[in-house]
Amino acid sequence: MEKEVILKVEGLKKYFTIDKSSKLFKPSKAILKAVDDVTFDVYKGETLGLVGESGCGKTTLGRTIIRIYHPTEGKIIFEGQDIAFLKPKELKKYRKDMHMIFQDPYASLDPRMTVREIIEEAMVNDTSLAKDDRERRVLELLEMVGLNSDHASRFPHEFSGGQRQRVGIARSLAANPKFIVCDEPISALDVSIQAQVVNLLKDLQRKLGLTYLFIAHDLSMVQYISDRVGVMYLGKMVELADTKELYANPLHPYTQALMSAIPIPDPDHEREKRRIVIEGEVPSPIDPPKGCAFCTRCPKATKRCFEEVPPYKEIVKGRFIACHLYER
Ligand SMILES: Nc1ncnc2c1ncn2[C@@H]1O[C@H](COP(=O)(O)OP(=O)(O)O)[C@@H](O)[C@H]1O
Ligand code: SF4
Ligand SMILES: [Mg+2]
Repeated sequence: MEKEVILKVEGLKKYFTIDKSSKLFKPSKAILKAVDDVTFDVYKGETLGLVGESGCGKTTLGRTIIRIYHPTEGKIIFEGQDIAFLKPKELKKYRKDMHMIFQDPYASLDPRMTVREIIEEAMVNDTSLAKDDRERRVLELLEMVGLNSDHASRFPHEFSGGQRQRVGIARSLAANPKFIVCDEPISALDVSIQAQVVNLLKDLQRKLGLTYLFIAHDLSMVQYISDRVGVMYLGKMVELADTKELYANPLHPYTQALMSAIPIPDPDHEREKRRIVIEGEVPSPIDPPKGCAFCTRCPKATKRCFEEVPPYKEIVKGRFIACHLYER
């Protein structure tokens, strides 16, 4: 059966204008290409993982897709409608369908509001709910995320990190969304409770039929939760494939280097594994390399890699890659 596409991202770009003025030099501006021509589909009900080193554009991509940021160029087709350049009034209809769970639940929850107020505020779009129904819905949401009615009148500082993230999840579910960008939702939590929160997200997905874009730098966690995984480097998607295939057989030199750094619990295995060390720093997105974004660090780079941007292509069904090595 053909899988249903809920979101189509086409040629999406998000550039920031950076002020480079200083006292010594005259005013000057630079363009920072945080997301640069990214294309992919997300299927209804799946978890698409997104990995890549810090600064490669994962958060910006997530925020642009749900229109926290205004895109520079491209299409964001959600359930058949291109929402990339909709005006705020037209966008309102879609706001409740798409939400975000943030990395730092403490920073993202207003400390002066009770949990009840925080969750109710997220229902504001839903004017059809009467006061009683709202209260009932708050309690239902708290229960759904493993908290209870006693928690409703408390403030964020009264909770542990894990509980706060549960409040953040309840808030993101308040408007009954279909699609959620989970931006490193467990990175700020103790290792001991990371798995609980990930399992909660999995349960909720099953029960509510949610679709996730799951951003993380922990490759093992992404492997555990994702159906497919996309790898980003310097604002570009460089590889995207089914989770099993990507982890068993990474093809892009950058994915290979990332994967080779995952610790394997079996010590015998660990010795056999060849670590690929990526030399050097990620180049600046203000002044990216001319050809392939990875050319300055790639062990397999040829002259062509420094001159031509490799196209992002489907090389076998469901496997996408941007690298000259795989062009026919
Ligand atoms: N609001 C912003 N204004 C200017 N530059 C930004 C802004 N947000 C992110 N960036 C820059 O965009 C690039 C991508 O950042 P980000 O999306 O946060 O990456 P990641 O989430 O993968 O760590 C970085 O170089 C970052 O400094
Ligand atoms: S296109 Fe060239 S530089 Fe880029 S990843 Fe492939 S081999 Fe490396
Ligand atoms: Mg980020």
